[in-house]
Amino acid sequence: MIQAQTKKPLGICETVLRDSHQSLLATRMRTEDMIPAMEMLDDVGYWSLEVWGGATFDSCLRFLNEDPWERLRIMRKRMPKTRLQMLLRGQVVVGYRHYADDVVERFVAKAVENGMQVFRIFDAMNDIRNMETAMRMVRKYGGHVQASVCYTLSPVHNNEGFVKTFKQLLQIGADSLCIKDMGGLISPGDAFDLVTRLKAVTEVPISLHSHYTSGMASMAYFKAAEAGVDMVDCAISSMSLGSSQPPTETLVAALAGTDRATGLDLAKLSDIGKHFAKVRKNYSHLEMKTYGVDTNVLQFQVPGGMISNLVNQLREQGQEDKLPEVLKEIPRVRADLGYPPLVTPSSQICGSQAVLNVLLGERYKMVPKEVKATNAVTSRIRVANGDRALKVGMFTQVRIALQERKAALTVPQTALAKSEEDVLSYVLFPPVAKEFLANRGKKAVELSGDQLAAIAVAIGAK
Ligand code: CO
Repeated sequence: MIQAQTKKPLGICETVLRDSHQSLLATRMRTEDMIPAMEMLDDVGYWSLEVWGGATFDSCLRFLNEDPWERLRIMRKRMPKTRLQMLLRGQVVVGYRHYADDVVERFVAKAVENGMQVFRIFDAMNDIRNMETAMRMVRKYGGHVQASVCYTLSPVHNNEGFVKTFKQLLQIGADSLCIKDMGGLISPGDAFDLVTRLKAVTEVPISLHSHYTSGMASMAYFKAAEAGVDMVDCAISSMSLGSSQPPTETLVAALAGTDRATGLDLAKLSDIGKHFAKVRKNYSHLEMKTYGVDTNVLQFQVPGGMISNLVNQLREQGQEDKLPEVLKEIPRVRADLGYPPLVTPSSQICGSQAVLNVLLGERYKMVPKEVKATNAVTSRIRVANGDRALKVGMFTQVRIALQERKAALTVPQTALAKSEEDVLSYVLFPPVAKEFLANRGKKAVELSGDQLAAIAVAIGAK
């Protein structure tokens, strides 16, 4: 019998409509494949359903010819009983660069208006300055602020430090906290320790988000449940494992009869699992041919999704054989940049710099502006590259959004934009949204093999 610190049922956030297909199927699941399961999902009694944000917004516009805002409205209408949750990249919103404060504000306002409730907010560098505006705006417009800290392993990260960051987030105001372990790196012991430390300093609910990548996540969840974690993220079995979340049904069964029993009905989950098993077959061409469990992630901390992006980047240059060198270069670049957690967009930034270092035959011969804007750069990089970075320009030290002028929330092609939501789509992804708005309503084109091969690159590299 599990000796838990609390007798509260463990809450489950089901990720099948967001992170799970982002991790397994290059974020390509169409709304029409989700709709038949929505009523069943709404009926389970999950703590929340993670359904929006992350890469789904971009993917809808770029690949699916779908309006992400319309998808949200459909979800809200068909799943009225369950909290809808999204992943918001702080000042980066749902894109790949920092936007001005007014973009963050209007995005949050419109997301709430269209039915979003729980906003999981993070910054890839755990830089609170890039989370503050988003947190305040979610509070202002009546959403639930779930403030996250990206979990990573490095010589400069430990549980004590994570707790310190969480405390700063609590001071800004958070309704819940999330330990965001995007690499699937957290061990059962560390999960137990971190949750215990957090429970000692706050009453707000704590969520643990992990990925099955290294094979540890189910064990980490079990130990976190013992320590009193309030919610964990799972994916329905047919869309779980690998770089996705641990299977929902397994955790439900493992905890049944304990102090932390979820109370969820395995029969209902089974019907949902069957639906997505069928759906997954439609996307088999997008599946990465990786092992079920990738223990390399424990060694290099390079998540599976990032490896496939790198392979594609190198393939475009005809340099696929350089992959082993690049994989060794990534941890070095990460150290030079002050050990950022590898998550969008820092994973792409470290990856691209590593590719440049290897392909150009000289480290930091070229330093993209995104690297200079990492904000966490220490004297390390100057040592590492013999001061070259200083010659090509100082690193950004200020809060990045300050460098963005207040965005003009108007669209030159006003005839295309029919709503403020359209304008926001355009401000976030100008060329992509313009094309979408111009072709709205037309049927999505079938993609060629070459286009499909480019998908993983585009999702991560833009
Ligand atoms: Co994730």
